[in-house]
Amino acid sequence: MMRPYGVDKSYELHKHALEVIPGGTQLISRRPTGYAYGVTPVFSTRAKGCRFWDVDGNEYIDLQMSVGTNVLGYADDEVDAAVIKCIQERGPVPSVSSDLELELADEIIATIPCAEMVRFCKGGGEANVIAIRIARAYTGRDKIAFCGYHGWHDWYLSANLESGETLDGYLLPGIEPLGVPKGLAGTALPFEWENLESLEKLLESHKGEIAAIIMEAARSFDPKPGYLQEVRKLATKHEVVLIFDEVVTGFRLHIAGAQGRYGVTPDMATFAKAISNGYPFGAVAGTREVMSRCNDMFVSSTYWSDPITATAALTTIREYKKRKVQEYIEQMGKKYMAAYNALVEKWELPLRYAGTGHNVAMVWDFDDPIMTKQARTYYVQECNKRGVFDPGGWHLCWSHTEEVLKELLPRADEVFALIKDALDKGDLAQRLEASLGKEKFRRLVS
Ligand SMILES: Cc1ncc(COP(=O)(O)O)c(C=O)c1O
Repeated sequence: MMRPYGVDKSYELHKHALEVIPGGTQLISRRPTGYAYGVTPVFSTRAKGCRFWDVDGNEYIDLQMSVGTNVLGYADDEVDAAVIKCIQERGPVPSVSSDLELELADEIIATIPCAEMVRFCKGGGEANVIAIRIARAYTGRDKIAFCGYHGWHDWYLSANLESGETLDGYLLPGIEPLGVPKGLAGTALPFEWENLESLEKLLESHKGEIAAIIMEAARSFDPKPGYLQEVRKLATKHEVVLIFDEVVTGFRLHIAGAQGRYGVTPDMATFAKAISNGYPFGAVAGTREVMSRCNDMFVSSTYWSDPITATAALTTIREYKKRKVQEYIEQMGKKYMAAYNALVEKWELPLRYAGTGHNVAMVWDFDDPIMTKQARTYYVQECNKRGVFDPGGWHLCWSHTEEVLKELLPRADEVFALIKDALDKGDLAQRLEASLGKEKFRRLVS
C-alpha cells in the first residue's frame, strides 16, 4: 500500500521554515536530513494513537513516536480529558503554587525508588541541568563523569571542547560546541557504558574533583548483570552523586524506571518524555539528603508550577499503573521484533531487530559503514512511501496492537524484498531518491 499523496507541501513549507526558523526545526531529530530527505514528511497536522498525518494528507503508522514521548499513544483520551478539565476548571499557572504539585510529588515519591523529594521542570535536558547543579552544590566539586546523551546544555556539550579536529571520531560527532564557554573545557568527562574500568580510571585520575556520575542506565538493551551495582559501589566509594538520566527509560522500561527494573537506586534521577505523554514536563527526583541542598540554591522558573502539564503527568502515571502499560509494551515489542525478524530471515538480510521490547534497535550487519547508511536510508525511504514512519529504532506504545502489526507486516515484506533485490544487484546507491540520512549524533548507550 503506497501513500496516496507526495510530500510537496511538506518541502514547500520546509523551504519557508529554513528562512524563518534556524535549522528548520526545534529538535534536531525532527530535521528531515536525518531520514530520507525529499521523501520523509517534514510537517504534520495531527496525531492520534500510533499514527500521524502529514500536511499533504498522508497517514503514517509511527514507530518512532516523537522520540519516545507518548507511551500511551498520541492524544490519549484519559490524559487529554484530564488536561481539558484542568484548563476549564483550574486555568493556567497561578500566582501561588497549585496544590496539584503536592499530589504529583507524592505520586512520584510513591513510584520511584530514589525519590524522597522532587522538583519539576519542562523537559529532559533541563531536568539534567538541575540535577547537575544540585550535585555540584552538594559535593562542592565541578567535574562530571557522563555516559549517554543528556541534552543540549553547556555543561554537557563542553565535553566536545577539547576534541579539536577529532570531533568526528569523538563521542558526539555532529555536535560542535559552538557558543559553549571554553572555560568549561575538561569539566565533562565521558566514560564507556558497561566498561567499569573506564569509569574507575576516571574517578581515580580526578580523585576528589568529580561531583556526579550521570548516565543512561540502559536504552534498547539491558546492561550486563551486576554492572549497575558496581557503578553504584564506585559512586559511593568516591562520594560522588549517582544520577540516572531516566529521560528515555523512566516510565517506559518499568513503572519505577531503570532503577526499578534493575534494582539499583541512584541518588538522583531525571525524567521527561514518557512522564507526561507528550505534554512538556520534566522532573528531578532524589534522596532527601542530596535534594535538600536545593533549599539554599537558586533553581527557579515561572512555568515549572504549571498545573496543566502537572495534570498530564499525574494522569499519565496513574493510567500506566491502571493499564499495566510497561508490561504490555514489553510483550508487544517482543512480538513485533519476532515478526519482523522472521521476515528478515525470509529475505536473508544482514539485519536484526533487537532490544528489550520497550525500545527496539535496528542493527545492520555490514562491514562497510557506507552500506549501513545506504541500506538504512533506503529502508526509511521505502517505509515512508508506504505510510510507515520508521527511522530504524522503535519506541512502542499502548496503541501498537496486534492489528497494527498486521497492517505493518505486508509493507515491511515489500520493503525487505526491495532491499534484497538491491543487495543482489548491487545497486542500492542508485535507488536512493533521498540524500543519505545524516547521522545526527552517536549516542553512547545502546
Ligand atoms: C537520555 C536523554 N536525556 C536527555 C534528553 C534531552 O531531553 P529533552 O529533549 O526533553 O531536553 C534526551 C532526549 O532525547 C535523552 O534521550
